[in-house]
Amino acid sequence: MSRRPVIAGNWKMHKLQSESAELANAVMKELKEIDKALLPEVVIAPVFTSLYAVNKALTDCGCGKVKMAAQNAYFETQGAFTGEVSVEMVKDAGAEYVIIGHSERRQYFGETDEMINKKAKKILELGLVPIICCGETLEQREAGVTDSHIASQIKAALSGLSEAEVAKSIIAYEPIWAIGTGKTCDADEANRVIAMIRGVVKEIAGASAADSIRILYGGSVKPNTIVEQMSKSDIDGALVGGASLTADSFAAIVKGAM
Ligand code: 13P
Repeated sequence: MSRRPVIAGNWKMHKLQSESAELANAVMKELKEIDKALLPEVVIAPVFTSLYAVNKALTDCGCGKVKMAAQNAYFETQGAFTGEVSVEMVKDAGAEYVIIGHSERRQYFGETDEMINKKAKKILELGLVPIICCGETLEQREAGVTDSHIASQIKAALSGLSEAEVAKSIIAYEPIWAIGTGKTCDADEANRVIAMIRGVVKEIAGASAADSIRILYGGSVKPNTIVEQMSKSDIDGALVGGASLTADSFAAIVKGAM
């Protein structure tokens, strides 16, 4: 089974509306000459306040080469949840994917495995695609509990999903010590962990779902790391932070993944 690669740019808490639209346009310009059928699935994730502006830029272009993700969404539909934004709301703004369980959300905003599971269910129920993040700290890696920690994050996140829902989901393996540090995880080691994750998916949702689910690597991905990463058997793409904030480096990563 060949899985379509995914290159997703997580813009984190960067860029005003006009800057976001400008970056979206610049990314599309960089990809203009490339046949859509040859491209990976390209996804960009602006802040909530820029979703409308980015969606407008993407739809005005009409090329259909770049899709939009939200960086988070709450699982309740509406109500007294001050400061939260629901999955319905990000869908209404044009998002087709939602990043959930990013380590920064777990670390700074107390996002738990249980919340991530509720979010995954809601996202899939509304026809969007969850990009479920997992990853270990340096302490966990040094203590030798990387695999067990990640397996438990994945089991919790996918709990109660149907095989078809699991197959449609995307997982991003992001070792926390590699995020924003310039220390990329060795490609063979990233591939080993991702193959381990695929094994966990097989255990809980069967071989076909494990074969279909896209599992990305994230953590200091750069234009000069992507080719080796994509050459590995189980790495289906990248979740890119810093290098997604300029169109030329993000486009170079997209092209490197082809
Ligand atoms: P960097 O690419 O900046 O290391 O960030 C990775 C990340 O957290 C993407 O979600």
